[in-house]
Amino acid sequence: MDRDILDIYVGDRLTATLERDPQNLEYVFSYLPGATDPISLTMPVIDTEDRFVTLPPVLETSLPEGELLEAIFRKMGKAIKLNDDFDLLKLVGMNLIGRLTVVPSGESPSARFPFTQPDRLEALLRSPNSKDMVTRAMIDFAERTGISGVLPKTFAISDGKSRLALPAGDYILKTESDEYPGICIVEHACMIACRSAGLDVPETILSDDGKSLLVRRFDIGPDGMRYGFEDFCSLRFISRKGKYEGSYEGAAKLLSLFSTDPEADRRKFFRAFAMMHLLKNGDAHLKNFGILYTSPEDVRLSPTYDMVTTTAFLPKDAPALTLKGNRTWLDAEGIAAFGAENCGLGTKETMEILEECLSGIEETIPLLRDLSERHPMAPVQRALSTFRQSPEVARESIIASMDESPAPRKSSRPTPE
Ligand SMILES: Nc1ncnc2c1ncn2[C@@H]1O[C@H](COP(=O)(O)OP(=O)(O)OP(=O)(O)O)[C@@H](O)[C@H]1O
Ligand SMILES: [Mg+2]
Repeated sequence: MDRDILDIYVGDRLTATLERDPQNLEYVFSYLPGATDPISLTMPVIDTEDRFVTLPPVLETSLPEGELLEAIFRKMGKAIKLNDDFDLLKLVGMNLIGRLTVVPSGESPSARFPFTQPDRLEALLRSPNSKDMVTRAMIDFAERTGISGVLPKTFAISDGKSRLALPAGDYILKTESDEYPGICIVEHACMIACRSAGLDVPETILSDDGKSLLVRRFDIGPDGMRYGFEDFCSLRFISRKGKYEGSYEGAAKLLSLFSTDPEADRRKFFRAFAMMHLLKNGDAHLKNFGILYTSPEDVRLSPTYDMVTTTAFLPKDAPALTLKGNRTWLDAEGIAAFGAENCGLGTKETMEILEECLSGIEETIPLLRDLSERHPMAPVQRALSTFRQSPEVARESIIASMDESPAPRKSSRPTPE
């Protein structure tokens, strides 16, 4: 029987191999002689082989989920087994998020090809039913699309000739599922609110019908250079199945461990954490945080992505990870406490960031109001209520906490008789 081996490239360099060992139900991972760049920050270059029972987590980062995964199974039929991540990686590995490319041994990694073409993309954004068009594109390219997440999605190219030279689409194109109508509108507004709040956020373009969203990829630089990307499941060295098994304290610690500018990144993480609570995003799980890097000496928290008011769709939704063992929405005081206890921030700084977050949401209300008028749907309306109420409630809670704090006294020492 032929040996089943995958070649792993870091950028353009063949760096490592992963071999399936069916006898021992294991995968054997080895760096090649002369390898310099690690495939993951959790897997430094060593000259001995490593054995795994499941894929090394970094190779799971972009494995398809949801409708994309179903489309692959439908297209590939019996050629791929439902629970075989190795086979899945063999298919989609040529187009992953980040700087890794995985191909069957000996194949060229440059077999990547353009996805949705610019003219088709323009028509899609103007179409009265973009969802069908995204679904079609997703199905067309499914078995070569290495991206995770439950919403239907594909890669896309943004514009004219110059960009066609890029190995893969420089945008992610996602569309709403039947379960969550209006989710792209809400995500678009949340991303804009995050940008107004001072976060680094990729550009988003909403289709005219509000059903699809184009998101600029941050793992591809302006010159086409690819950055390393790992989500927090990969950094914790756990399978993607554990994406809801973690805490925000743990995520802050993990970031401090890997970031090469932990102070700045903790501040950024706190800002994203504050927005997550204020916008009621109950899906900020371990795959919805990530890092970007050029080398282990240059590692930073990635721009914010997948920020959505999930309570607009699931009114009882709660935070995806725990804090102090609970999954509950925090008021302004609780958010500030997280900044002090887990991000090393002082009171003045947490309050300044919180204020910028509240203003960011308020500034986005007119946009979301316009969108809700153009696309009258209950979830969009509910998101608008959150955008209106959340800053108000937070401000009341800040004022109440100031009232509760003891009034300054001239001296707390007992005065002598
Ligand atoms: N702008 C971006 N640039 C590069 N990679 C991205 C970007 N946005 C998201 N990703 C990657 O794509 C994955 C899926 O994207 P996203 O989280 O937006 O999809 P989703 O279907 O809404 O996910 P979920 O299942 O969490 O709801 C992310 O986990 C991340 O790995
Ligand atoms: Mg996601």
